[in-house]
Amino acid sequence: MGKDKLKRFNELKSFKNFYQNLDYEKPELVNFEGEVVEMKGKWQEKHFGNSNPLTLELACGKGEYTFGLAKRHPNRNFIGVDIKGARIHKGAKEALQEGLDNAAYLRTRIELLPEFFASNEVDQIWIVFSDPFPKDRHAKHRLTSPKFLELYKKICSPNAIIHLKTDSELLFNYTLGVLDGKGMSYNIVERDIYNKGTIHPELTEIQTFYEKMHIEDGRMINYVQFKLFQ
Ligand SMILES: C[S@@+](CC[C@H](N)C(=O)[O-])C[C@H]1O[C@@H](n2cnc3c(N)ncnc32)[C@H](O)[C@@H]1O
Repeated sequence: MGKDKLKRFNELKSFKNFYQNLDYEKPELVNFEGEVVEMKGKWQEKHFGNSNPLTLELACGKGEYTFGLAKRHPNRNFIGVDIKGARIHKGAKEALQEGLDNAAYLRTRIELLPEFFASNEVDQIWIVFSDPFPKDRHAKHRLTSPKFLELYKKICSPNAIIHLKTDSELLFNYTLGVLDGKGMSYNIVERDIYNKGTIHPELTEIQTFYEKMHIEDGRMINYVQFKLFQ
């Protein structure tokens, strides 16, 4: 790890809004004091101190959606999830500086989420510019693959909504195909969100690090929203 990354990572570990899993083989979380903490089913009570609904941002990178949504929705809780701590650092630091008590960050592999969230604990999931994994043989790693949808079912409430925003035609079409294959309908499908007149300001007002690069490259951004349980 480079010096700067290491510095960010070390600073991140001391943030009160940050939790991490240190070992994939050992599904436990540590907090900013390095203590092992049991958060499964307890995020509202133990971290947020309220009973507001919880939204996860998966593959959050620098966590712009967690930050942006938390600012817009003080009566909801948000957790950004990514495996890369040096990226999470930015969102977590800004949330602390802004006093956003309803935003937290979690460093873990998404595959381990059922270890850290109880059934019914999550109300919404945002998947924003996640890796498309272009090779067919890697399709199971796409965050909207049937495997991941089943995983989300283990932690989501019956009315849970999934949001996918992506520049990848491949991932977008794949996701629609997965939903069709399962006989699932979508609440909203919007191609080219920046040239359509906006369905919701949050879709274009909050822009992530990768999104800004894709916009600069003139790539089209698409969005689909669907209910997990139908
Ligand atoms: C293309 S980046 C997008 C980051 C951010 N959403 C954005 O739009 O700027 C994909 C992110 O997914 C994270 N990631 C990929 N697979 C993951 C997994 N299985 N568990 C946790 N994070 C993962 C990577 O670390 C990376 O930060």
